[in-house]
This record gives sequence, C-alpha cells and structure tokens, in this order.
Amino acid sequence: MFPMMDHTSHLVLIFLTIFTSTLAKVGFPKDQNMDAHTFPPFIERASSGIPDGHLRPLGFQKRSSGKISETLEMPSPHMFYIKYIKANIPVLIHEAYRDLPLYKKWEDDSYLKEKFGSLNVSVTVKRQMVKHTSHTMTLKKFLLDYVHEEWYLASAVPMEMMAELPFPSSLRCGTFSKRLQEAELWMSSGGTSSLLHSHEDHNLHCVLFGRKDFIIIDEKYKNNFDFKEKYFHAGAGHSPLNMDMVNMFKYSNIKHTPWNHATLRQGDCLFLPAGYLHQVRSYGRGISFTVLFSPSNEFDSSDCSRKDKDVKKADSSLADAEFVWAYRNGSHELYHDKMEPNILQNLLQLLMRSKHEIYREQFEHFFDAAVDKFPEHMEASEVFSQLTQGLGHDYLTKKDIDRLSTSRLLRICKIFNDGGKKFKKSKDEL
Ligand SMILES: *[C@@H]1O[C@H](CO)[C@@H](O)[C@H](O)[C@H]1NC(C)=O
Ligand SMILES: *[C@@H]1O[C@H](CO)[C@@H](O)[C@H](O)[C@H]1NC(C)=O
Repeated sequence: MFPMMDHTSHLVLIFLTIFTSTLAKVGFPKDQNMDAHTFPPFIERASSGIPDGHLRPLGFQKRSSGKISETLEMPSPHMFYIKYIKANIPVLIHEAYRDLPLYKKWEDDSYLKEKFGSLNVSVTVKRQMVKHTSHTMTLKKFLLDYVHEEWYLASAVPMEMMAELPFPSSLRCGTFSKRLQEAELWMSSGGTSSLLHSHEDHNLHCVLFGRKDFIIIDEKYKNNFDFKEKYFHAGAGHSPLNMDMVNMFKYSNIKHTPWNHATLRQGDCLFLPAGYLHQVRSYGRGISFTVLFSPSNEFDSSDCSRKDKDVKKADSSLADAEFVWAYRNGSHELYHDKMEPNILQNLLQLLMRSKHEIYREQFEHFFDAAVDKFPEHMEASEVFSQLTQGLGHDYLTKKDIDRLSTSRLLRICKIFNDGGKKFKKSKDEL
C-alpha cells in the first residue's frame, strides 16, 4: 500500500525522532499546545560526577549564546545577498508574511482536504523509536490520521499547491532567482524533533502555522557530533546522535560548542546559509515551507530593475518560480521534463554551487534522482565519464562545462530523457 520512496530519503533523515512525551495512545490526539516549552531551556546543574545535560535534549548542555540576527522585513534581493548570504549570517525575518490568504484557508484541514485531498504527498511514518520510513499517500489520508499517528508530511511541494504559497520577494530576481533548487512542504501535529543536520543549499524556511524552535550551530563544530557527510564532497549531512538524549560522557565536546537559537511563529522566516547545522523542534499543528537555493560566488541583480513591478507584486506565488526539481503526482523529478543542452549546462553549473569543481559523487547524487523514474537507467559513473572524457581530470570545472560540445551535450541529454538504456547498446559506435 505504501511504496517506498528513495528520493525523499534526504527529507526522511531530517526528522528521526518524535518526542516520547507526546507519544499518545492510539485514538487520542497529541498535545497541540504551542507554548508549553521554554526555549532556550533553563539549565540546571547536574549532580556531581554527571556532566550538565547528560541524557537531556540538545540545548541543555550549554547556554545559548543568544538569538540569531533578526530583521523585520523581507530584504530586497541585493540587501539579502550583501547582509546575509555573502556574510554567511543566519537571520530571522520577523513577520515576513503578516497576512496571507492561506492563513484563513488553511487554518483547519477542511479546505486542504477538499482542494488538495487527492494529491499524492510524501509522508514519513515513525515505526519504532528511530526507524522511520517514507511513504507516498494522498493528502486526504494523511489529514485523516496525522493528529493520532506519528506521521509527518515532508514532501516537495506538489505543483498544484504552488499557487497558494508566496514566492519570497528576496528571491524573485537576481542571481538566486535562477538558482532555486526546490520548495518543500512540512506538516505535522507537533512534537517533532529533527536530527542535527545541514544542507548543501541555502535554505529559507517560513512558518505558516505552529511554532518551530531552531538550534543553530556553525559548521566548524560538526565533528563534535560524529557528523556524517551525505556523500563525498557534499558539504552537508547529519549527526546520528539522538537529539533528545545526548550522551555527554561520549560526546563531551558538546559542552564547548556554542549555539544560537531562533523561535519561528506564523509569518516568520529563517534564512539559514548552506552548511549551518540545525536541529528543529515543532509544537502545535504546524505547516511550513522551505525554499532551497544554490550558493553562488557571484551576484548580479541587474534584472531586478526590469522586474521591479513583479517583485513588488504581493501576490506572486511559487507557481511563478522555476526550480530544478518538481513534484508531480507523487513523483520527485526534474522541473523541466525534457533535458536540453542549455538546461543541462545550467544544471551542472548549479550543481557546483560555490565550489570550483564537480566530482563524480555530486553528479551521481543528482543523476540518480533525475532518472529515478526509469525502471532501468545507465550508471551515473558511466555518464560522468562521458562528461569528463578527454579532459585529463576526473572532475568538471565551470570552464569544462561551458566548453562541452553540442554533440556531447545532446548525447547526454538523451540519457536524461530516456534513461540511457537504448543508447548503451550503440555506445561502441560513437
Ligand atoms: C499518478 O501515478 C499513478 C501511478 O504511477 C498513475 O496510476 C496515475 O494515473 C497518475 N495520475 C495522474 C493524474 O497523472
Ligand atoms: C495518487 O496516486 C494514486 C496511486 O498511485 C493514483 O491512483 C492517483 O491518480 C494519484 N493522484 C493524483 C492526483 O495524481
């Protein structure tokens, strides 16, 4: 009944535990109180011989160094880049959305059920304490049971829902408007607790309902948490530690790890630069969305003056945005359903993010997700060899990508479009 969905495993990893305190008996709704938890926590001294915060949630081991930076309005694309992206500073944008039509419409589940109930979404189901699996189910089925079950929705935003979500104005023009990776939707009845993790892309997280508490840690401290990289050269990954019960004998460096905090409520957005570690807890019926966008070493906002009217338009939605990934009919796939040479070159440049090379592992991760819809497809490493053929090195630089010949690009586009199995037979002739 629930097909497994491998491509959402990166989302699954993010939420691994659900508070044991909210484990309700089947049939009883979970505690949806939004204000019962003090954050950051008050730290009590442990009894002698036991380190502070031993077997307590992350945050009880050392006091927060303070709130992250805050601002009141969604900054212009230019200011967003200068003050936060380039400076690599997380920021809480208070009341970025004071008023949205969906605050009324999505306030209870009936509208969602009626309008989007038949859409397939990706839902994470908690089986045992830490064993979580991802399933595709209709939104209707999720909404019927999420208050009782240990389920949360962690899905790329289905295309049909894009028009109801606002397109953050800071991303509507300039370099980053062309580097949007994907939009994700999160929904639960509260009591979720994530792993400590980081993303290879910048992340703008906006809360529409409920409350979310973030613990934010500079990536230079990742080794204090037994950090596991997502793949070689990813620059992102997660810590396998149980964030609700930190073993301070084993991970004693946590007491020397500075952290900052942020609490988001309706209309607040958090910008988290790529690489920052974060751990997230949610309270109450919660819905939020995130927009992931690729880091860049350059910034150009010359298109912003031309797009000025559009940018100010309050009702621009995510349906107006162009992403790398789309979610159609429960399937995570490339936004462009047909790969073409200029699109491929552009996607490869995005894949490089702010680094100077793409390695096989990065390409593999991307290619496998792109051709996941084909029952059989060519090996990613084989495709990567075709991309790097004749270069004399086993990575791709920005220049290498610019110089790919049209014939080679066309050949590789074909592999993206049909999985490459047919092509494989005639490979020797080329
Ligand atoms: C969605 O996918 C399922 C299974 O792959 C298929 O049976 C169904 O027809 C699809 N629905 C739409 C609207 O494309
Ligand atoms: C959702 O998935 C089911 C089963 O795969 C399919 O029958 C249905 O058409 C899908 N719904 C939509 C709106 O795509």
